[in-house]
Amino acid sequence: MTAVSQLVASLLRDVADFPKPGVVFKDITPLLGDGEAFGAVIRELAARHTGAAQPIDAVAGVEARGFIIGAALALELGVGFVPVRKAGKLPGETVQRTYDLEYGTATIEIHADAVTAGQRVLLVDDVLATGGTAIAAWDLLTDCGADVVGFDTIVELAFLGGRDAMGERSVHALHVVT
Ligand code: HPA
Repeated sequence: MTAVSQLVASLLRDVADFPKPGVVFKDITPLLGDGEAFGAVIRELAARHTGAAQPIDAVAGVEARGFIIGAALALELGVGFVPVRKAGKLPGETVQRTYDLEYGTATIEIHADAVTAGQRVLLVDDVLATGGTAIAAWDLLTDCGADVVGFDTIVELAFLGGRDAMGERSVHALHVVT
């Protein structure tokens, strides 16, 4: 295990039966609450992109936890942040994607002018689970002309198969739970 993977593991909290019976929820709030660790994680994510041959132009994240990680990472990289929101929250003209959940569907959206053609966008979230939201956000950004260069996450729940579901889309996780 890398040092940062170990650090993340030490600050993840297992919450039994959340959000429903039988699920053990991996909670990142202890990590967020530790300023040194939170900073170390953001700097580790940023390090892969600073000085890269093709730098990132913007970071995108899906509400709510993707905002926390994404905004911090955007600041660290010195680029803007694109909020991907649940339908009905953004004031301007939007473009949407609807995707399947375990029960029912969800719709996410971004402002129609949030990205420009060919803009290199990094998508981030705290946790990769089944990949449903990440795929929908990736494809939504692509619909709007962005060149989505990867999905970066702090924790990957490998047993939920998100990486496979992401297919050809590039995935990077600091800590993998098997
Ligand atoms: N933690 C955080 N987000 C999640 C989880 C989890 O365990 N499962 C699905 N989304």
